[in-house]
Amino acid sequence: MPSKINLLICVFILHLWAVNSVTGQNVGVYEIKKGDFSVKVTNYGARIISVFLPDKHGETGDVVLGYDTIEEYKNDTTSFGALLGRVANRIGGAQFTMNGTLYKLVANDGVNTLHGGIKGFSRVVWNVSKYQQDGPYPHITLTYHSADGEEGFPGDLLVSVTYALKNPYKLSVVMKAKALNKATPVNLAQHSYWNLGGHNSGNILSNVVQIFASHITPVDQSLIPTGEISPVKNTPYNFLKPREVGSQIKELQSGYDINYVVDSTEKMKPVAIVYDEKSGRVMDVQASAPGVQFYTANSLNQKGKGGYVYQPHAALCFETQGFPDAVNHPNFPPTIVTPGKAYVHKMLYTFSITKYWNSY
Ligand SMILES: *[C@@H]1O[C@H](CO)[C@@H](O)[C@H](O)[C@H]1NC(C)=O
Ligand SMILES: *[C@@H]1O[C@H](CO)[C@@H](O)[C@H](O)[C@H]1NC(C)=O
Ligand SMILES: *[C@@H]1O[C@H](CO)[C@@H](O)[C@H](O)[C@H]1NC(C)=O
Repeated sequence: MPSKINLLICVFILHLWAVNSVTGQNVGVYEIKKGDFSVKVTNYGARIISVFLPDKHGETGDVVLGYDTIEEYKNDTTSFGALLGRVANRIGGAQFTMNGTLYKLVANDGVNTLHGGIKGFSRVVWNVSKYQQDGPYPHITLTYHSADGEEGFPGDLLVSVTYALKNPYKLSVVMKAKALNKATPVNLAQHSYWNLGGHNSGNILSNVVQIFASHITPVDQSLIPTGEISPVKNTPYNFLKPREVGSQIKELQSGYDINYVVDSTEKMKPVAIVYDEKSGRVMDVQASAPGVQFYTANSLNQKGKGGYVYQPHAALCFETQGFPDAVNHPNFPPTIVTPGKAYVHKMLYTFSITKYWNSY
């Protein structure tokens, strides 16, 4: 009997989601699904709210941190699963000069701008423009019109993100932006917090990580890049060979929170591989962006799904993106998007299962 009631409630909730997908502006939850692989997304901040994957025993588990309700996402300060913009990461002094004009942005991280400002793109409601729950190409496309002057950024900007599932166990994220009338900096990033052992399985310090990057962009005390590009060789930042995340973390103040310069010059670049021994889950990250912010959730202390409290190092983030504060560093790859030239940032997560790291 209780399961019948649950089913009725489910059908009712699914009906609400369907209504929301038509009206667009309302906040809803949308699932895309391929067998035992499923991802839930909300149009509040274009956020990924769950990723279910099988482990080596065939048991599915949720491998991203998050909340049970949209109300909690509205209070969120961690950016769990968010699509960040107009400019992800930090802009020093909350300002930049472009073609001789000084642009003042909203400061929300001391004197700096972090993740696009107070609302950025992660605390706004996106439109749902395409949605296919299952079948050969489960996907959802969300769009957002960012107005001229929003958070201090110049020009209207049309942004979209498509989350799609591909065989076998691939999640593709395609972020696009089009400047409608003025040149503007754009740096979109996906900010999921990954714990391949399960969102409520404790810390990730024993995960084995490899990052395909020989250099980082060092930062000052307020996490603004100094402009240097320095080698990882002989530092705790060296993940060129796979090793446990926690093996040198104590040499850092609180953990990893740094932009790596990805080595590959291919269109889709190998970025990182993570292996969790307990579950056997492996995540391979590729992206078209030149950098990746590697973050080990250093300051986390947040009640999340099922009331579980996420502590520091409960997850790993691989925020592929342009370099932080690129607008103030002419030696970094440019992030200015001009009208008529589209911005595209592609990511591909490939998940697999292995019993032994060596056999991967
Ligand atoms: C959101 O934050 C407010 C203020 O701190 C709090 O009163 C409220 O309970 C929070 N809501 C949720 C759903 O956590
Ligand atoms: C800067 O100004 C030059 C000359 O007016 C123009 O060609 C160029 O597109 C401008 N660049 C940006 C980023 O606005
Ligand atoms: C959503 O779509 C409507 C209709 O096209 C448009 O007027 C509105 O600006 C869009 N909202 C956002 C947030 O992009």
